[in-house]
Amino acid sequence: MKISDLFDVSGYGAIVTGGASGIGLGYAEVLAAGGARVTLLDLDAARLEAETRRLCREGFDVRACLADVTDHGALDAAFDEAAALYGGLDAAFANAGIDPGAGFVGAWAGSERPRLPGGAIENYTDERWNRVIDVNLNGIFATVRAAARHMKPQRRGRIVVTTSLASTRIEPAIGAAYMTAKAGAAQFMKTAALELAAYGITVNAIAPGYIVTNIGGGHAHDPEEQAAVARAIPMRRVGFPRDLYGLALFLVSPASDYVTGQEIVVDGGWGLGAAD
Ligand SMILES: NC(=O)c1ccc[n+]([C@@H]2O[C@H](COP(=O)([O-])OP(=O)(O)OC[C@H]3O[C@@H](n4cnc5c(N)ncnc54)[C@H](O)[C@@H]3O)[C@@H](O)[C@H]2O)c1
Repeated sequence: MKISDLFDVSGYGAIVTGGASGIGLGYAEVLAAGGARVTLLDLDAARLEAETRRLCREGFDVRACLADVTDHGALDAAFDEAAALYGGLDAAFANAGIDPGAGFVGAWAGSERPRLPGGAIENYTDERWNRVIDVNLNGIFATVRAAARHMKPQRRGRIVVTTSLASTRIEPAIGAAYMTAKAGAAQFMKTAALELAAYGITVNAIAPGYIVTNIGGGHAHDPEEQAAVARAIPMRRVGFPRDLYGLALFLVSPASDYVTGQEIVVDGGWGLGAAD
């Protein structure tokens, strides 16, 4: 046996929702670099085109699909198209998600972390709540369902959901709808894993802590915010999409054949309870 075979994803057909930016783009890049054929599904047309073009220029087998995960018909059609092109579907990342804005409380625990404006629960609008649940929870459901529809008949497949550290603990600065959606997605992931295990399909979740991406307008690129957050993380640094490469590859490759229903936190120790 060659150890590298354990992590071999060459020729795999994969689809990544929210694949044009941040964490999803990182998943797409590591898979494509491993020889997989990858569809980036996203609703941001400009970013989708730019990133697809860049990855193709680098010699990767990557294509773009413009779709919104809240449009379940369009999502199903996108999965049908990718599966037809790839002759099946080996991996799906249910990753697309949005920031909810500040939460009810609006302060970070610890004096040195940035303070964000908060609000009262009675000012949290239906529109804001529903959009976050629709993308961050219902979109996950519809993505996993679309993937299962293709993977069940082939009796194999890998599904990876992006949850969050916020699915396991309360962060006052993170909007309540976000935490609720992520916790729901984590529970849903486990029930999907139970249902799909008999078909040789694994379903797992990656729960990142603070990763520098474009979410919420890209505030995470601010060096002052990064420094403040890093002080609260035991490893004393913030995360980047590349910090998720190894786990994404593991969860899609033969190395994780007997791993399912797991939510794996990648956060530099933040969830352990950090000291400022
Ligand atoms: N950045 C973090 O610190 C962090 C931490 C934990 C979890 N997450 C989760 O990671 C996932 C990816 O977020 P990110 O941080 O990379 O953000 P990002 O904004 O950089 O990337 C998200 C991508 O999803 C796309 N998207 C948003 N809504 C969509 C929809 N309805 N349909 C299709 N595409 C849509 C966006 O256009 C964007 O390209 C999200 O689910 C997010 O909640 C992020």
